[in-house]
Amino acid sequence: MKTVALPGGERVPALGLGTWMMGERGTHEPEEVAALERGIELGMTLIDTAEMYGDGGAEELVGQAIKGNRNRVFIVSKVLPSNASRTGVAAACERSLKRLGTDRVDLYLLHWCGSVPLAETIAGFVALQRAGKIRHWGVSNLDLGEMEQIWASPDGKGCAVNQLLYNLGRRGIEWDLMPALAKRGIPVMAYSPLEQGRLLGKRPLTEIAAARGVTAAQVALAWLLQRPGVIAIPKAASLAHVAENHGALEVALTPAELAALDSVFPPPRRKAPLAML
Ligand SMILES: NC(=O)c1ccc[n+]([C@@H]2O[C@H](COP(=O)([O-])OP(=O)(O)OC[C@H]3O[C@@H](n4cnc5c(N)ncnc54)[C@H](OP(=O)(O)O)[C@@H]3O)[C@@H](O)[C@H]2O)c1
Repeated sequence: MKTVALPGGERVPALGLGTWMMGERGTHEPEEVAALERGIELGMTLIDTAEMYGDGGAEELVGQAIKGNRNRVFIVSKVLPSNASRTGVAAACERSLKRLGTDRVDLYLLHWCGSVPLAETIAGFVALQRAGKIRHWGVSNLDLGEMEQIWASPDGKGCAVNQLLYNLGRRGIEWDLMPALAKRGIPVMAYSPLEQGRLLGKRPLTEIAAARGVTAAQVALAWLLQRPGVIAIPKAASLAHVAENHGALEVALTPAELAALDSVFPPPRRKAPLAML
């Protein structure tokens, strides 16, 4: 498995597993657990979830999928902005730990910025870290101005990751946010790496895939995996999709293929507001 270093040096898989829209009571749960278990077997041992997903159902599903494998997996979960006060994060984390059936979250993220001052949320995260309930903390959907507030806060330098919407069709963060994160050795965790499937019928993705005998999803993921400091977390609820996504690790796009992708999905030419889903 290709890995990416967190700022402290710990390495995590560059290709993980998303869980949004999983664990939504009564829908396909055994298949979803099986898909996560297969992903873990294949080495995609970084699992992204959140208290919001399925109203806790996704965390419960992850708890089932990691049974017997806790020490092999790196669990990422997220606190809602409405729970991001100093005491709120502590209570939310306890609820997440219970649903996940574990004693620690490996990386705990603020899902997006709300009304609680960032410094207060960070203080809550640091207290959880000291108590051994979380190993690392980070953020999601924060733009450069908000990251600068983080870095200016006491303990803000401990931020391990920013989880952001990033795929071939969503390259705005390359303008200034990605370089600022890279300067500090902070990985980008790319969410919706397949644009929830909407990228997959587009040219030249389909043409590159056909010429290589691979799939458009594998080309879209390979493009992300070739970028330094990027972790991709596709969500796949079937064994076939999990195996296919894992196959992206074998695809090394050539300079000509990368140029063809750039011509249709160009890098940004100016600063734009942060895109999110
Ligand atoms: N921080 C945030 O605000 C935020 C926002 C969005 C997402 N996320 C995280 O990022 C993860 C991934 O993003 P996402 O779920 O929005 O979208 P995504 O991973 O881009 O796309 C998921 C969709 O693509 C399909 N798919 C997966 N592999 C495929 C393949 N090989 N071929 C064809 N279709 C395939 C899935 O179908 P099946 O399920 O049927 O396999 C699902 O419909 C989420 O699950 C979540 O963990 C975070």
